[in-house]
Amino acid sequence: MTHYLAPEPGKLFLDATLGGGGHSEQLLSKGAKVIGLDQDPAALSFARARLGHYDDKFGAIQGNFRDFGEILSTIGISGLDGLLLDLGISSHQVDNAERGFSFNKPGPLDMRMDPDAEVTAAELINNCPEEELARVFYEYGEERASRRIASAIIERRKEKFFECTTDLAGLVESILPRRGKKHPATRIFQALRIAVNNELRVLEETLAEIPQWLRPGGRLVVISFHSLEDRIVKSYLRRCSKSKIDRPEWPEPKSNPNYCFKLVMQKGLIPSRDEVKSNPRARSARLRVAERLPIEVQP
Ligand SMILES: C[S@@+](CC[C@H](N)C(=O)[O-])C[C@H]1O[C@@H](n2cnc3c(N)ncnc32)[C@H](O)[C@@H]1O
Repeated sequence: MTHYLAPEPGKLFLDATLGGGGHSEQLLSKGAKVIGLDQDPAALSFARARLGHYDDKFGAIQGNFRDFGEILSTIGISGLDGLLLDLGISSHQVDNAERGFSFNKPGPLDMRMDPDAEVTAAELINNCPEEELARVFYEYGEERASRRIASAIIERRKEKFFECTTDLAGLVESILPRRGKKHPATRIFQALRIAVNNELRVLEETLAEIPQWLRPGGRLVVISFHSLEDRIVKSYLRRCSKSKIDRPEWPEPKSNPNYCFKLVMQKGLIPSRDEVKSNPRARSARLRVAERLPIEVQP
């Protein structure tokens, strides 16, 4: 996948979702320089230990990718040859029950990628009004039973607050019995995680900043893991890859002020069967790649 960034000596990339450093390592091994960003200090420690031997070719910084422009300016960087967003949470985060992302293992209802962030999943579940919970489950989880689940949470909350992941997962399972392999709480957990980390808004704000930072020919690679993220990426790239825009009420098309990308592939790429076999979590992944055109954009 990192081959879409065409890594080579002399190029500089931002891996805005450093995680365990797997993608950064692929770029570094081709001789490129990489700045890795992650809001999770545990990911930074892991990636630093793994990639420290690349010395001054690799730097890891803690921060939210929403602030990537400010972070790059602070360290004196003004342009990139590529930027990678491998969205969502890492397997390290899911597998660590203490982080609260997994409905399979008991752990605190936390779900913050940045452990210093203010709001945890428990705070949302135990304090949000019913309507707000139903909205979160419907909008961020596309859960059809959002109202029923929100109402059951409110009832249960009157007796006892939710503290544990499996406690919440159990309540959801009592309302939506298991069908097939997917746990019935999957969508509720996804919704909470998105809300806790404000993921969709952060993604929109970040995409809007990227054209100012990519050099002509530089590439943006985004891997998303659910349709809500992918929809945002797809519509953003569509908006920025048309030279003209047209509306029925206009006498003729006008030039598009956002035009700055060429789509490297028209459709999002899905993983091959073999890839899914070796990494089942990749089954819902979608990859999109765009190349910065040599066109000025307004900051
Ligand atoms: C899917 S993992 C990346 C895995 C990585 N590409 C690898 O090869 O190991 C996503 C990582 O991005 C981080 N992340 C997600 N949203 C972020 C944000 N808004 N700002 C900074 N880091 C974020 C998560 O903490 C997680 O470590």
